[in-house]
Amino acid sequence: MAGSGDIDEAAIDRAAAVLRGGGLVAFPTETVYGLGADAADGAAVTRVFQVKGRPPSHPLIVHLGDAGRLDGWAEDVPATARSLAERFWPGPLTLVLRRGRRVPLETTGGLDTVAVRVPAHPVALALLAAFGGGIAAPSANRFGSVSPTTAGHVHAELGDAVDLVLDGGPCQVGVESTIVDATSDTLSVLRPGGVTREDLEAALGRPLAVPVTSHIRVPGQHPSHYAPRARVVLVEPGEVIAEAELAQESGRQVGVLLPSALAGAEVKAHAVVTVPASIPAYARGLYGFLRELDQRGCDLIIASLPAEQGLGAAIANRLRRAAGPRPAA
Ligand code: TXA
Ligand code: MG
Repeated sequence: MAGSGDIDEAAIDRAAAVLRGGGLVAFPTETVYGLGADAADGAAVTRVFQVKGRPPSHPLIVHLGDAGRLDGWAEDVPATARSLAERFWPGPLTLVLRRGRRVPLETTGGLDTVAVRVPAHPVALALLAAFGGGIAAPSANRFGSVSPTTAGHVHAELGDAVDLVLDGGPCQVGVESTIVDATSDTLSVLRPGGVTREDLEAALGRPLAVPVTSHIRVPGQHPSHYAPRARVVLVEPGEVIAEAELAQESGRQVGVLLPSALAGAEVKAHAVVTVPASIPAYARGLYGFLRELDQRGCDLIIASLPAEQGLGAAIANRLRRAAGPRPAA
């Protein structure tokens, strides 16, 4: 299918049929590509976990075609959650709510809550409309690795393990959705993402709690996640060049995510990607940059954190997790 966002109706119909048959469809959203299965089909959802290599206790997000379809998927939806859904859907906001009767425990990793969102991508919305039900979809990557933001990334990650890949071009947001615990009117952000804290607070007219630990288990939030193959080390922006050159001299193949303020500086390293000065452009490109540095053979990536405002908070969160401790090899 064309990468321009044109809808290939025949491909959408084939994809909906694959979902109805219990198969897996990778599809574009505005954030990252998802690996979708019928959210109401426990066996299909189990295949998603197998293909990703993801522990079955890590719950999936249920994607819906519009906010009016929450019935059966979520229960006891608080008024505040409804108003956020109205304001931000379709869009990169995921709401954690009480699990509805249509959601099997496979989808929620055994939890009595369910994460739901309406994605803002024409291909995803066309697929949801053709399918009619909810689509459970984690990011379409192997567990722990970098999320795919193009159909090419999905093929590289999952190959033939997926029944069908819908190509909707590069994702426009580039980092995953913001996850908000909306089970009560005391909201908290479980994962920063495409909808900024500032936007949420403006919509609510009040500040949001910053949970140190939430009462809700947040699987997928363990230290090493969103990680490229190369080890990632975070340093102060002013130290990036010196640290990179030191490591390169000591025999590492160093990749650099060069802060935009240092654009044009000469860096004696294996590979250098200068990050865009625009934070939305940085978010859009982030996972592609990490993949590129992997592909160019880097074994170490030196990076620094952007200011943690707006989408910068999501970028910083993903870089910290990419730099998190790895399980012993
Ligand atoms: O932008 C996105 O959110 C993308 C696209 C495909 O929609 N999806 C995505 O899914 O990032 P995934 O599986 O990679 O991350 C979903 C995260 C889980 O790791 C978990 O932290 C959280 O959502 N989650 C899901 N259900 C939850 C629940 N009931 N309670 C708390 N957290 C939950
Ligand atoms: Mg993921």
